[in-house]
Amino acid sequence: MKILTAIAEAHTEPREKRRVVVPTMGALHRAHGELIRVAREHASRGGEVVVSVFVNPLQFEPGSDYERYPRPERADEDFCRSAGVDLLFRPSVAEMYADDRSVFVNEFSLSKILEGESRPGHFRGVCTVVAKLFNVLAPDVAVFGEKDFQQLVIIRRMVRDLNFKIDIIGVPTVREEDGLAYSSRNQYLNLEERKQAAVLHKALQTAANARRKSADDIIALARNVINEAPLARIDYVELVDAETLRPVQIAGSNSVLVLAVFFGKTRLIDNIRLA
Ligand code: PAJ
Repeated sequence: MKILTAIAEAHTEPREKRRVVVPTMGALHRAHGELIRVAREHASRGGEVVVSVFVNPLQFEPGSDYERYPRPERADEDFCRSAGVDLLFRPSVAEMYADDRSVFVNEFSLSKILEGESRPGHFRGVCTVVAKLFNVLAPDVAVFGEKDFQQLVIIRRMVRDLNFKIDIIGVPTVREEDGLAYSSRNQYLNLEERKQAAVLHKALQTAANARRKSADDIIALARNVINEAPLARIDYVELVDAETLRPVQIAGSNSVLVLAVFFGKTRLIDNIRLA
């Protein structure tokens, strides 16, 4: 596995093979492993899989967990090596951002709601860094997780609106045994919070299996299940359209139930598509 830290090196890398990129912030876990596996499938024989690891300061709002976000460099390197990654791109902050940077990528509609409302500036950071990674790594295909559903929808919109010639692949959410979606932030949870966090998937499933179709009923069902966990503090639970992310009144096959819930200081997000 080749490791690159400089953009200039990435630009001069030979680019004859079909290239599939998996952007990450590191602290790699089983879900990232699944994205890499899917990337390998899409690279097929002869193609190459590239993983980027970059904790992007631009997408952390002030006062959030940028400083304490885990950065297990060596473990990430080993993880990529044993997952069969061909190239690991791991730039420094100074490499990615000039001090006097003044151009950003802003999505102005889908970014205003849900995560965007709770985390101002977050999607500007995500879009800017992903556009930069696309320019530096020039993938044919890029792989993202459905766990960050709004992020995936916004990246698809950016690719469409800015004409990136890149296929975006979404990978279904990978879960632990009790249903909790894998996340690098799960390690912030203490034992009791971790135990209670299983309620999120239970709430999503209860709502998805309900016969009732009104958004108000479905949301109330989910909220009731979440509130069974005394440590849970709901940020939002919404039923939205999978493309526009606008609230829907009646659940249909294109509806997604999305939620964000605090356990202590840790904010977890999850979602489920309704049948
Ligand atoms: P990060 O949180 O490291 O996630 C990297 C990729 O893994 C994202 O596409 C995310 O959706 C996916 N992922 C994380 N947990 C998952 C799970 N349980 N199931 C399926 N996919 C999962 O998302 C980011 O980094 C950043 O915002 C990034 C896109 C790299 C831009 O900085």
